[in-house]
Amino acid sequence: MITLNVNIDHAATLRNARGGTEPCPVTTAVKAEIAGATGIVCHLREDRRHIKDRDVYRLRETIQTRLDLEMAASDEIIAIARDVIPDLVTIVPEKRAELTTEGGLDVAGSIEKFKKLSDMMHEKNIEVSYFIEPDQKQIDACVAVNADIVELHTGAYSNARGQKMMEEFEKLKSGAKYAKSCGLVIVGGHGLTYSNTALMCQIREFREFSIGHSILAHSVYTGIEQAVRDMLNIIHNAECTNNIR
Ligand code: PXP
Repeated sequence: MITLNVNIDHAATLRNARGGTEPCPVTTAVKAEIAGATGIVCHLREDRRHIKDRDVYRLRETIQTRLDLEMAASDEIIAIARDVIPDLVTIVPEKRAELTTEGGLDVAGSIEKFKKLSDMMHEKNIEVSYFIEPDQKQIDACVAVNADIVELHTGAYSNARGQKMMEEFEKLKSGAKYAKSCGLVIVGGHGLTYSNTALMCQIREFREFSIGHSILAHSVYTGIEQAVRDMLNIIHNAECTNNIR
């Protein structure tokens, strides 16, 4: 069964718009868990544009499922991660000017650096996931740096239409198969929505999806619990259909 990790960054974006306390990202996370999320994701960016340090510590104390801290490989954030001890960290590239994480991480370009980072997290019993494009060179690099998980970037698939979308689907499918053959756990994330997630479920190697913006946007209409349930229904129905085929 594919599970769902809900990224609650944009509850913090909305809160920060007025500098107050509402909506509370921690309450959002708890409600997402009640609705069936199996993990909560937050990204502590170096510019702290949405999630703040205090949110991460409060999430760690409060949530009952797995906490996934998305982060850049910077010394400051590494120190915070080793103090908070989330269940896992997802290492992403980070550029200050971007609206959201744009491309996959170049793990192959800095093997020694990322191997050291994996070791520092494993020392604290934190699992390590790398957010990469579905390409063999990056997957091999993740094996070389002792990754536990790879999160395959679904952004290009999500932004594409028609034939191009199917080409991106095929890239994700072969990337996921290859990563599985290397013994890695495979997650998919970025840009997944209520209309493009069902097709992703055909890639049976995915163990989990990490979804944020679309669920938080939908929750403005339905409330967060219903928004999480609606996404879970899409995933479960798609998996049932796949099993019948
Ligand atoms: N996975 C990673 C590694 C991300 O950086 C993000 C965006 O924060 C997501 C998943 C969620 O993307 P979206 O908000 O588009 O669902």
